[in-house]
Amino acid sequence: MTETIAVIGGGYVGLPTAAVLARFGHRVVLAERDEERYGALVTGGVPIVEEGLRELLQEGVRAGRLSFSKHAAEAVGGAGFVFLCVATPERPDGSADLSFVESVAGEIAPALVPGAIVVNKSTVPVGTALLVERITGAPVVSNPEFLREGTAVRDSLHPDRVVVGADDRRAARRVGELFSSTGAPLIVTDTVTAETIKYASNAFLATKLSFVNALAGLCESVGADVRDVVLGLGYDHRIGFEFLRPGPGWGGSCLPKDTSALIRIAEEAGYDFALLRASIVANDEAQERVVAKVTEALGGELHGRTVAVWGLTFKAATDDRRRSPAVAIVRQLLDRGASVRAFDPTVSPGDESDDLVGVTLCDDAYDACRGADAVAVLTEWDELRGLDFEKVADLMTSRELVDARNLLDPAAIRRAGFSYRGIGRP
Ligand code: UGA
Repeated sequence: MTETIAVIGGGYVGLPTAAVLARFGHRVVLAERDEERYGALVTGGVPIVEEGLRELLQEGVRAGRLSFSKHAAEAVGGAGFVFLCVATPERPDGSADLSFVESVAGEIAPALVPGAIVVNKSTVPVGTALLVERITGAPVVSNPEFLREGTAVRDSLHPDRVVVGADDRRAARRVGELFSSTGAPLIVTDTVTAETIKYASNAFLATKLSFVNALAGLCESVGADVRDVVLGLGYDHRIGFEFLRPGPGWGGSCLPKDTSALIRIAEEAGYDFALLRASIVANDEAQERVVAKVTEALGGELHGRTVAVWGLTFKAATDDRRRSPAVAIVRQLLDRGASVRAFDPTVSPGDESDDLVGVTLCDDAYDACRGADAVAVLTEWDELRGLDFEKVADLMTSRELVDARNLLDPAAIRRAGFSYRGIGRP
């Protein structure tokens, strides 16, 4: 059945959500108040890097199922479902900042049509659905999002599961039906449980990653190869292969924010989530181990040395640098006296963002290595695999390479005259 849906917020979650709901045959109005983002959308553009998103948005617009508005209150007029996809940034104390959710709820409340269901897709502290219900006076369904940046379209079209939580189970089921064409298992529960499922998923993924990064540390100490250890683990279907790639620590706009928020939520409810606190500590250690590897490659002293860095985003296939381990490592290298020359395919040399202050931004991967004493792979950009490493070696003053993503072939790197340091491998 075709429904009329408003999606509030054209960010990393709202955009794929709107595009996918239009693909499923619904009529969707996406509200984005930021002038620049709105301007990009109405002219057929996409304000973020996300594979397949532009095509899917354009398909929806062409089919007459997707349109854009600058005003949330205008978008919800006539909508039977209103999806809240606004940011819930981290406050300095680790808790989630709900001000966007609250202000949007207040803004749309007078414009909601009778019978409209408000759907919360933003990651919000347990209990927020009840708060939004109080502000809007409408039934609220918690429908957490599990998409990943970089694969958002694919994840939204083919979700592993759809979770809907509401006190009014009928409202929850109706929201579930919007996604029925995905064929994904539907979990119908209460709001508090649905909100907890979202945090539990991200906390589990973060802990799994911290485990494999800590395991990589162990492998280095005992002389094992973490890649084969992961192979041996992954074939056990109870463990699986996903989220077992060791790296410089987990980052991005979600896992760091949501793990901290869950610790706060637990604390406030009188529960000490010590295991999750340990995952965060292990993550900090994973980052520090990369800085230590670069320092070791340079003979123990960073001061006055030049480090080339490949990759600044928190992972490949995105332009997002929020809580990027690559940026955190770069900041530490700078703090300890190194000069950093960096290349990232999504960052242009003129970029003056705060997180990149003091970094020399370069046009390409070769340029970054000019006069460098060591080079570090910090984001797993595929295009780095195809570089001419002899040429890279010629540009550098010494041939030290730290591969914090285990992206490159150590044999090829060594053939080019480099000493190679990966993660968790002898
Ligand atoms: C994460 C979750 O994976 C999504 O399910 C969730 O919907 C999303 O947060 C959210 O809450 O909105 P995302 O932050 O886009 O998605 O990125 P991930 O693919 O989860 O990567 C997170 C971090 O883990 C990155 O720094 C990545 O490089 C790292 N990672 C991931 C590894 O180091 N190894 C892996 O094997 C996988």
